[in-house]
Parts: sequence; structure tokens; C-alpha cells
Amino acid sequence: MSLYRPLCIGSLSLPGNLFLAPVAGYTDRAFRSICIEQGADFTCTELVSSEALVRGGVKTQTLFRRAHNESRYAVQLFGSDPDVMYRATAMLAPQRPDLVDINCGCPVPKVVKTGSGAALTRDPERLARIVEAVIRASREHLNNTPVSVKIRSGWDAQTINYRESADVALAAGASMIALHARTRAQGYEGRSDWSHIADLVSRVSVPVAGSGDLFAPQDAAAMLEQTACAAVMFARGALGNPFIFAETRSLLLTGSYAIPPLQDRIAVAFRQLALLANNVGEKSACLEMRKHFCAYTHGVAGGAELRRRLLHADTIDAYRALFALLPQSVH
Ligand SMILES: Cc1cc2nc3c(=O)[nH]c(=O)nc-3n(C[C@H](O)[C@H](O)[C@H](O)COP(=O)(O)O)c2cc1C
Repeated sequence: MSLYRPLCIGSLSLPGNLFLAPVAGYTDRAFRSICIEQGADFTCTELVSSEALVRGGVKTQTLFRRAHNESRYAVQLFGSDPDVMYRATAMLAPQRPDLVDINCGCPVPKVVKTGSGAALTRDPERLARIVEAVIRASREHLNNTPVSVKIRSGWDAQTINYRESADVALAAGASMIALHARTRAQGYEGRSDWSHIADLVSRVSVPVAGSGDLFAPQDAAAMLEQTACAAVMFARGALGNPFIFAETRSLLLTGSYAIPPLQDRIAVAFRQLALLANNVGEKSACLEMRKHFCAYTHGVAGGAELRRRLLHADTIDAYRALFALLPQSVH
């Protein structure tokens, strides 16, 4: 069987198993749209605060709006209060998400301190009540959209608890587990331990999406092969490199892939800038896109100087002028 394959998450059928992971500050509507265009099979918003949502935060509302070409997408919520999570899930109804994911992996102290994110995996009773509340809200307001849970390997090296967290989430009715195979203490450093993904796959009957150290198409092929996970989630490997989806699909289906030429890559970055400007206005888009352009030009000859100048680009024309100045390699 090919490593590139369709899968079902509860009632949701997906054509392929190459996912964009939630990445706060990056996986906004414009970038998700670009990833879909470049071959992602499924996308997810960044973590959305259930508390901010129910308080009526206007900015929060924009975080989970569906992109024009996003025929299937997930919204990720975080929170520690089952009732608030219920109300936040119900508020997603106008966007009709195809999956609601519960963040149980965020290591940021500000989030963990409130009892949400990775802290939920140390409080199995609360985790169960949250999964149940989100599923109940989904049944009552979202036409029974499936619910998934994204966890880490554990709290720290001494507390590897992904098995327990997955068991609790599944007993409460979750339809998929996404596992980032690092501990909360690791943050985003050090190697992820894919043996945890393989172990979880062998223990549960729902799909497991694997996350951790997917920086090249070969990494995704290796994770699918070594762990038998149902799907892979690209995170940092997709930033400035949405091409990784089509490249990986080609590798899995044909055994090889071609890297698009730099000028095509930059053209995609400019399309992302235009989409974002459409969503948030030119000024904010130009600010937001600096980090994306830095990622798109990573490893490019003359890139360091370009990235320094990008810090002052505040109009689309300024971006264009900068790229017109680049050495031959870009054009
Ligand atoms: C800057 C940054 C922001 C992230 N934001 C989220 C998030 O909002 N929700 C989430 O579940 N995971 C988040 N993650 C974790 C990623 O989804 C992924 O699990 C992790 O980066 C491991 O994959 P990688 O090693 O291939 O990057 C974030 C990671 C990074 C680096």
C-alpha cells in the first residue's frame, strides 16, 4: 500500500495524509490557502483561545475564518474550562469546520499556567470533561463534526504520559490523536521520539497524526514508514516552504520530486503577501510577511542582506523593489 493514502477521521474523509500542523503566528488564512494551493490535504488554524472567543474578541474571530480554497479544515481551540470550551465550539458554527482539535500540547508558560495546553495532560479528569464538552457542542451545534486532540509525548522525560492522555481522550470520544513526539519540557528543541508515535499507533484504533522533525519530504516518508501513522503534520518544515506538500506527495507516489525554481517560490511568497493584504490591509500584511519572506529566502545567495532590508519594507512596492535588486539567482 502506498504511504500516500486517504484516511477517515470519524465521519470526515480526507483525500490524502499530508497535513499542515497548527503553528501560532504563521498558519493564518493566507498561509493555509497557499498550502492548500501547493498540495496540503488538510490544514489547521493556529490555537484559538476559547476564553477570548466567548468574550467576543474581534481579532480572535479572524483566526478561525475559512480560506476561500480551504474545502476542508480544522480549527484548534485551547482552554481549561469545559463550559467555556463548549460555548467556544458552538461559536464556530458559522464557519462549519470539518474538525475541531483540542490543544493539549502548548508549552508556553502563559497558556500552561491557566491549566490549558500541555497542562491538560497532567489533569486527566479535566481533559476528559473538556473533550466531552467539545463533542457535546459539536453534536448540538456543528452537525457532529469530529473532534481530535493534539498531545505531546509527555510533560518531561520523567513523565511520558501520551498513552494515558490518548486513552482519556478516546474514552471521551475523540476521533483522532495528533502526537508531537516531544515533551513539554523540550519545547521545540532536541529530537522528537518517533517510537512514541509507533507505539500509540499500535495501541489505538483511531488515526494517529505524527508530528516532529518533518523538515524534508524524506522525513515524512520515514515517519510514515517507521511509525505506520495515518497522517503526517508539517510544522516548521512548511514555513517558507509550502512546496513540501507537493514534493512529499511526489516522493511517496513516484520515488522522486523536483524542487521548484527560486523565482517560482518567490512568486508564491508574493501571492501570499497579496492574500494577506486582502485580509488585513497592506500595512499589517507587510509587517506580518517579513518573517515569512525570511523563511522563503532561507539559504538563498545574498539572502542575509535581503533579510536585513526586509525589516524596513512596509509596502508591497517596497517588497517588489527589494526583490528586483536581488542577484540573478532570484530572477
Ligand atoms: C512557532 C510555533 C508555533 C506553534 N503553534 C502551535 C499551535 O498553535 N498549536 C499546536 O498544536 N502546536 C503548535 N506548534 C507545534 C507544531 O504544530 C508541531 O507539533 C511542532 O512544531 C513539531 O513539529 P516540527 O518539529 O516538524 O516543527 C507550534 C510550533 C512552533 C514552532
